[in-house]
Amino acid sequence: MKLLLLGSGGREHALAWKIAQSPKVEKLYIAPGNAGTSSVGENVNIKATDFDALKAFALKEKIDMIVVGPEDPLVEGIYDYFQNSPETKHISIIGPTAEGARLEGSKEFAKEFMQRHHIPTARYKSITADTLEEGFAFLESLEAPYVLKADGLCAGKGVLILPTLDEAKKELKEMLSGMFGDASATVVIEEFLSGIECSVFVLTDSEHYKVLPVAKDYKRIGEGDKGLNTGGMGSVTPVPFANEEFMEKVRTRIIEPTVNGLKTEGILYKGFIFLGLINVKGEPMVIEYNVRMGDPETESVMLRVKSDLVELFEGVAQKNLDTKTLEIDPRTAACVMLVSGGYPETYQKGFPISGIEQAQDTESILFHAGTALKEGQIVTNGGRVIAISSYGNSKEEALAKSYQVAEMIQFEKKNLRHDIGFDL
Ligand code: AMP
Ligand code: GLY
Repeated sequence: MKLLLLGSGGREHALAWKIAQSPKVEKLYIAPGNAGTSSVGENVNIKATDFDALKAFALKEKIDMIVVGPEDPLVEGIYDYFQNSPETKHISIIGPTAEGARLEGSKEFAKEFMQRHHIPTARYKSITADTLEEGFAFLESLEAPYVLKADGLCAGKGVLILPTLDEAKKELKEMLSGMFGDASATVVIEEFLSGIECSVFVLTDSEHYKVLPVAKDYKRIGEGDKGLNTGGMGSVTPVPFANEEFMEKVRTRIIEPTVNGLKTEGILYKGFIFLGLINVKGEPMVIEYNVRMGDPETESVMLRVKSDLVELFEGVAQKNLDTKTLEIDPRTAACVMLVSGGYPETYQKGFPISGIEQAQDTESILFHAGTALKEGQIVTNGGRVIAISSYGNSKEEALAKSYQVAEMIQFEKKNLRHDIGFDL
């Protein structure tokens, strides 16, 4: 089988690494990929949102399946684009339709969906410039801190948490007058939920589902979860509090109503559902839906998927996921992200990276995020540079291995968090 994976981050390197292990794969292409993905497949220089170019390539290379890494192509309708053309209808797309991708593409749609299906989530109100006064009244009815979410995609920057009512009102007004362009023309105001978060990944064929290992990611740049939000500085799986009792609640109150809700609403969904959950005194509530795998959760989660991922994808495509097995490695897996100094604010690119070869002699696995190959040398090419993933019999053991390799890899202005997993 010939596969095309879309995306260029650490998540895609981890997916490519796992996909390439399948005996079913005759050829794996990654568009556009990065310096790491080129070691497990062949990079193709096409943007993940350039549907016409992807179609031409898929036809030329007789691609059987396209696995979509990031959300943008899904929200922009890649599933529908391939399904609606007789020439490409036979190509399986792993990812939801544009309608399904609204679970991530519109916070308002996601909240209304949860309300319709009685899925536990924070109380909210959806506000536009015309209803600003209602927004102020709703804020006044809540207690600090205040959560404001731009309705549309903002590359992870559309959520503001404000400590005072005055600031919340001021930011609400600014968001509605274009702080995030069209994405914040509608703003969802939410009640603040207090608890510890985790990421639950579901793979569904629109009828059946499998639950992948639960992970926790670390979004803030600073140790102790301080400072600005990043794309993610590390991850750990499993998550001790996501025990059998908690997961039973997640299945019955969240996963099943979500999968069944999509089905009853006639929304075709064949792909990953990423539930951003918060544990509020033992009760799981949904913070957000994403329609893809998480990054950097994938860089630890894929280590624990023992089954053939491509066979699971075939189950998704053929709608017989129930006949496939998902075997999970009982060990812990942890990932530590090396980032460019300055990230998530301005940073420089193009620094040579050393130590990658030495790291290859360890048990850890390197997943490239922002790297590029320049004149035979691997250089930094993004904020998040390399994820170092390791197995362990405990969280401590897995992290110790990753931190050891983190010392081996050097580039100018390297930064990392030394406290991944601190709260578990
Ligand atoms: P997002 O950018 O959508 O991933 O949201 C960023 C972060 O904001 C989440 O991971 C949570 O930590 C936090 N957050 C979002 N909604 C809420 C809420 N209702 N209560 C508390 N924290 C929230
Ligand atoms: N790690 C969170 C995300 O991928 O959105």
